[in-house]
Amino acid sequence: MATQPRGDSPLFDPSQSELWTSRSWPDLFTAMRAADPLHYTPQSHYGAYWSATKYKDIQEIESLPKIFSSSWQYSGITIADAPEEIQDEDRMPMFIAMDPPEHTPQRRTVSPKFTPSGMAAMEPDIRQRTATLLESLPQGRPFDWVDRVAIELTTQMLALLFDFPWEQRRKLTYWSDWAGNVNAALDPESAKQRMNVMYEMGMFFAGLWEMKKTQEGGDDLIKMMQRSESMAHMPERMFIGNLILLIVGGNDTTRNSMTGIARIMSLFPAEWAKLKGEGEGSRLVKNAVQELIRWQTPLAHMRRTAVEDYDLRGKRIRAGDKVVMWYVSANRDEDIFEDGDRWMPDRENARRQLAFGYGIHRCVGARLAEMQLTILIEEMLKRDMRLLCEGEPERVASPFINGYHKQMVTMTRS
Ligand code: HEM
Repeated sequence: MATQPRGDSPLFDPSQSELWTSRSWPDLFTAMRAADPLHYTPQSHYGAYWSATKYKDIQEIESLPKIFSSSWQYSGITIADAPEEIQDEDRMPMFIAMDPPEHTPQRRTVSPKFTPSGMAAMEPDIRQRTATLLESLPQGRPFDWVDRVAIELTTQMLALLFDFPWEQRRKLTYWSDWAGNVNAALDPESAKQRMNVMYEMGMFFAGLWEMKKTQEGGDDLIKMMQRSESMAHMPERMFIGNLILLIVGGNDTTRNSMTGIARIMSLFPAEWAKLKGEGEGSRLVKNAVQELIRWQTPLAHMRRTAVEDYDLRGKRIRAGDKVVMWYVSANRDEDIFEDGDRWMPDRENARRQLAFGYGIHRCVGARLAEMQLTILIEEMLKRDMRLLCEGEPERVASPFINGYHKQMVTMTRS
């Protein structure tokens, strides 16, 4: 694998966990965008990698899937390489870690669930459950927003989507947390434990899959996949891999955006006040949701592997090089977003946020995530709820999931 002379630029390594637990990454990326926006880190816990930090560069990389592969064969879509000891028969193939032509029909199978009419069908149920949960929260007494609200609402939504056994829905949270834990790859014991948890999840879904086959009717995601022509001839392992993808894809991301609401209400109270009095269907709330997703960017990056040499910003990325696309940085790129670390519900171009990615892999669940977040904010506004963060959150120590384990808040209603 080729290395790149760095010239005079300083050495940056945005993969270090401390940057994410202390939230010092915004300053680091500002420095990188100024000094060396396409940066090569020759050594890190995750090996050598390129960092793409500018909005336009990430769009360029994502629009060239034949050159920048997502395939699991080159270790997939996060900065952490898949452990070498995983045998082929243990792999759970997922379409997020595939290139065309394999990727296309699999994505097409699940995407009808996320059309505007598919979303409209789910909306009343999600709204009702959100309202019930908000009504159950204590007033004037601290509680953990992550556990009581963000995890609970996200897990409920996923359980509805899959018609997952309701009482066991927190299993989805547990599995998904392990799936997104890229640091597990750094320690053999954790890597093994992660594999075991993934195996347990696979077995559970295999059982659910068999059970669903015997059920008549139903329009949940599993039944849709079972009925689909393009999935009918797929190995069962692949169905299960894709189910896992949908759960992991929908879990950490939406959950951490929901906790972002508590953060922005505390950090930018005057901005939040602009939403006062906005009702259901408000355009300002929809824009505020885009701005929330931009500001939080719950998946800090996606990774590609170059399969041929490519020149970008006057540098040569060599075949075999790992390229990390930092969405958190693109969403604060001063060429696109002014004062990017500030949350402003009326930001004119909030819709241009890149947190859902770009191109053929752009998030399938984007509409569902947007709908859930919109409902949550609308229902909070209806109740005139105010959240005050009690100190700093406990952040996830990961350069992949930009999120929270815990955030104590006090809620008041006027
Ligand atoms: C705020 C919430 C969310 C964010 C920020 C987010 C972010 C992303 C990103 C960055 C990608 C990769 C894009 C790329 O490589 O260009 C992705 C892909 C994906 N997401 Fe999401 N996601 C969210 C919610 C969801 C939800 C709710 C679901 C489903 C329940 C979901 C399912 C998926 C799937 C299946 C893919 C793979 C798409 C493909 O490879 O074609 N996501 N998401």
